[in-house]
Amino acid sequence: MDFSYRNGALCAEQVPLEEIARRFGTPCFVYSRAGIERQYRAYTQAFEGRKALVAYSVKANSNLAVLALMARLGAGFDIVSGGELARVLAAGGDPRKVLFSGIGKSEIEIEQALRAGIMCLNVESEAELERVDGVAKRIGKRAPIALRINPDIDAKTHPYISTGLRQSKFGVPIADAERLYLEAARRPHLEPIGIGCHIGSLLADPAPWIAAAERVVELADRIERGGVTLTHIDVGGGIGIRYRDEVERPVGDFIAGALRALGARRHTLIVDPGRSIVGNAGVLVTRVEYVKPGDTKNFLVVDVAMNDLLRPALYGAWHEVRPIRERQPGAPEMVYDIVGPVCESADVLARDRALAARPGDLLALMSAGAYGMSMSSNYNTRARAAEVLADGAKAHLVRRRESIEELYTGEIVPPW
Ligand code: LLP
Repeated sequence: MDFSYRNGALCAEQVPLEEIARRFGTPCFVYSRAGIERQYRAYTQAFEGRKALVAYSVKANSNLAVLALMARLGAGFDIVSGGELARVLAAGGDPRKVLFSGIGKSEIEIEQALRAGIMCLNVESEAELERVDGVAKRIGKRAPIALRINPDIDAKTHPYISTGLRQSKFGVPIADAERLYLEAARRPHLEPIGIGCHIGSLLADPAPWIAAAERVVELADRIERGGVTLTHIDVGGGIGIRYRDEVERPVGDFIAGALRALGARRHTLIVDPGRSIVGNAGVLVTRVEYVKPGDTKNFLVVDVAMNDLLRPALYGAWHEVRPIRERQPGAPEMVYDIVGPVCESADVLARDRALAARPGDLLALMSAGAYGMSMSSNYNTRARAAEVLADGAKAHLVRRRESIEELYTGEIVPPW
């Protein structure tokens, strides 16, 4: 598949990761074009014959090459900032397929989105509705909006990535929705065109996701009976992937449920997946710096750290670790914690892994295509990794490694 051993060497498509590491150095994120495209098509195939839009969630992996790939496939985009809008436009994305979510949109971000002519602003509070109305009036536009509804459904995922419960900061309570739609419809600078929800990320079970879709569809019916016509229903993203041994339910099971909920209604169905498109289409290649045996733990100190891949430190997430040579001759197999150089005890990338490795060996942290580079930082003044896109037998550098100077060019020492 996208990452497999060929003649004992782990490859991205047909390119050995060893060769990529030699050319571009480590740490290095490597993505598979075929993998991304196949995952995107799993959605479009599930929608076959229905009015639908796959709005790729940019936050999962916002590299311009990935966005350009999506744009070429005809995808829309789910964005959460003016920065993400700028990326989508720079990558050739169609603004008329952009949905802008997020609870804290600034005046400037709203203005930029309206001027760019995006498809829809997903409004998450009454105060935001006021603000969007004000900006639209000031610049003489009519703002297409949807309300993001909080359906009060437990997504049964990690609490940090669960968003659909009443106590969550996201979305508008169902009980307020009808009143807010009527209010919006009365205002000449607002145009309610849709409704949306998103209950959380990394969902293994389609049941809560489908239940949320049903709730939103029912609410859409009530809103339309009140005299407001909607053209789309957005059921969010959040479909999980396999990191370890989780049972991965096919995307089609989720989509079939949403289509069932929609029934014969004429609305366009929108989904905004991120992880399920890019997650398993990416790995992070690292080099072993030191082997550090100890009384209670053995450590492999590698050149990737929590600033490159935050998920294990932040969520206790599990990423598979594979050696880049299928068999490492000469090194004894031991159980290691794989740790980075950052000065935090949380800087552990993987715990208790049996591996044979020596200093200089290369390892791949698997399933790093989503929320890897996009959540990276420069903590400890570490330059961010290079990014490479494998495409058949070719490997394209899609982001060069940051230089150390870039990290402080914006900083100013006062003229004391
Ligand atoms: N739509 C909305 C409104 C969202 O907030 C999100 C993700 C998505 C779509 C895409 O969800 P996905 O299909 O990727 O699950 N950093 C965490 C995940 C945070 C997700 C935030 N919202 C992680 O690394 O697990």
